[in-house]
Amino acid sequence: MDRSALDAAHAAAVRYLESAGERPVGSSTTVEDMRAALGGPLPEDGEAAAQVVAELARRADPGIVATAGPRFFGFVIGGSLPAAVGADWLTSAWDQNAGKLLGLPAGTGVGFVTGGQMANTTCLAAARQAVLARAGWDVAVRGLWAAPRVTVLAGEEAHVTVYGALRLLGMGDASVTKVAVDGQGRIDPQSLRTALHAVTGPAIVCAQAGNVNTGAFDRLDEIVEAARERNAWVHVDGAFGLWAAGSARHRHLIKGVERADSWATDAHKWLNVPYDSGLAFVRDTAAHRAAMLRTAAYLQPAEPDKGRDNYEWTPEFSRRARGFPVYAALRSLGRKGVEAMVDRCCDHARLFARLLGSAPGVTIANEVVLNQVLVRFERTGMDGDGWTREVISRIQRDAICWASGTVWKGRALLRISVSNWSTTEDDVRRSVAAMLAAHER
Ligand SMILES: Cc1ncc(COP(=O)(O)O)c(C=O)c1O
Repeated sequence: MDRSALDAAHAAAVRYLESAGERPVGSSTTVEDMRAALGGPLPEDGEAAAQVVAELARRADPGIVATAGPRFFGFVIGGSLPAAVGADWLTSAWDQNAGKLLGLPAGTGVGFVTGGQMANTTCLAAARQAVLARAGWDVAVRGLWAAPRVTVLAGEEAHVTVYGALRLLGMGDASVTKVAVDGQGRIDPQSLRTALHAVTGPAIVCAQAGNVNTGAFDRLDEIVEAARERNAWVHVDGAFGLWAAGSARHRHLIKGVERADSWATDAHKWLNVPYDSGLAFVRDTAAHRAAMLRTAAYLQPAEPDKGRDNYEWTPEFSRRARGFPVYAALRSLGRKGVEAMVDRCCDHARLFARLLGSAPGVTIANEVVLNQVLVRFERTGMDGDGWTREVISRIQRDAICWASGTVWKGRALLRISVSNWSTTEDDVRRSVAAMLAAHER
């Protein structure tokens, strides 16, 4: 086999990862330049594989943002642990179809999906299946046309992907009864109880572990309590927050989580494995499987009790074996490593809040309970929203670090999310200095 294309990819990937800590954290090119670098007519004749890979790496390089580096604090990205990247390379090389690969013991109730969006979708499909089955309706067979109406109760701050999931599941935005939240975005349990008692048919409650802006957690124990009174299903969107379970210092935030019915999380966020990697966990394995099941003779389905076919637990049929990087990340970190990574990110978030919050004209707009920090910049005689947006665009242009803007409770804010395994205290201090320089200039 000619291995030169693989060697070229390896060399370019290592070059990128080794430089990620010092590359500008932002865009250093334009769309037009990238089009010019990568565009053009498709050549008549193919090019040598190694040349294609090496050229791709060279031409794309100016457009590659250091999102895997230690000073990218946008969205909730996370980087990629070396073990996870290595396992991801192997996953591509092995090219297994994990729809039917691993033969895990039956009954684990987990599906490896592409991300939080599909984890929420899978879990809510199982929820829909279960609550309608209790009402005597098999939605997998009969669909939704004449089914009893399912009410979904979600906090006003539910993530948009919950709505995305409900659209895909044929229930739509209007199936949601929005429940009041507090100043941090947490569902008010009493309002939930009141709303639940007004519902007559099947009900699903969508709770959240880790608000995408504040990092706040719904009070899961009280939410489960209220839901049980109405025989409602409780789904927890814990795209990044579920990883608080790995930390003794942060576990109290998700008290009661084990009493829910389904949980969505991402491995590509806080577990720091490459995109795309989400996990859908469902307690009621019968409902989970019924919601996803389709089969055909040529697939040679696993014999009952001899294992499981993974495509029966995910919306995807064929898919890459994204369980390998998850396995490698967990093995390389161990229990203590997961805990240390979560604690370190949270400590860094608190350090951001302490250093920024003590500077003149800067306030921290959330309770920093996890890895998220919301920052407001004010300058005398200027509109606070306008000045905060100006500081954010300066920070992004300076490219020492990167964090996004957001709007929380009607106010423009800088949103810092610390979720990369390789971020150090020095990275935090450098980033704070860059942020304050943008504010003071
Ligand atoms: C709470 C929450 N749910 C769901 C998602 C969607 O996850 P993904 O982008 O992996 O689909 C996110 C992403 O930030 C999130 O924060």
